Amino acid sequence: MRAGHLTKRFFASLWPSGPSSTSEEWVRSVLSDDEHELWRRMSRADRRHAVGVARRVERSLGDEATKPVLAAALLHDVGKVSAGLGTYGRVVATLAGAAAGRSMADAWTEGKGFTRKVGLYLRHPDLGGDMLAMAGSDALTVSWAREHHLPEDDWTVPPNVARALKAADHD
Ligand SMILES: [Fe+2]
Repeated sequence: MRAGHLTKRFFASLWPSGPSSTSEEWVRSVLSDDEHELWRRMSRADRRHAVGVARRVERSLGDEATKPVLAAALLHDVGKVSAGLGTYGRVVATLAGAAAGRSMADAWTEGKGFTRKVGLYLRHPDLGGDMLAMAGSDALTVSWAREHHLPEDDWTVPPNVARALKAADHD
């Protein structure tokens, strides 16, 4: 499941095309000005994936898919921009995190060059949460960025919303 998901993302990222202009206009209408500044820093492949997540969340939650929920779908991985890793580096980071445990990521963040980038990539939930908090995002949006890789027991986002966000990210 996880490997298949990563493989799909990997191949999608080799031929990166961004979201359609219609989708970008929709995103613009959902996000605040400051959130949209963060959005523009994401890669085309990540933006296209995130639009898909948000559309699926909108379909599954209906009226409960409020702007903060859709912003969470669109921006939960925004912390990845801090690492600046390409496709290959992300694969290495993911494997390194799985092999060494995510607790190593803090130490790697203190390192230099590629090691630091791997550490930043693995810490993308917290970094993204900080970026969204600074952008003045809703508490739900900030929380989901921080919590989206945590086990369900650790979620503070309402369970039905969190489950819809999680499920939409794996399609
Ligand atoms: Fe993530």
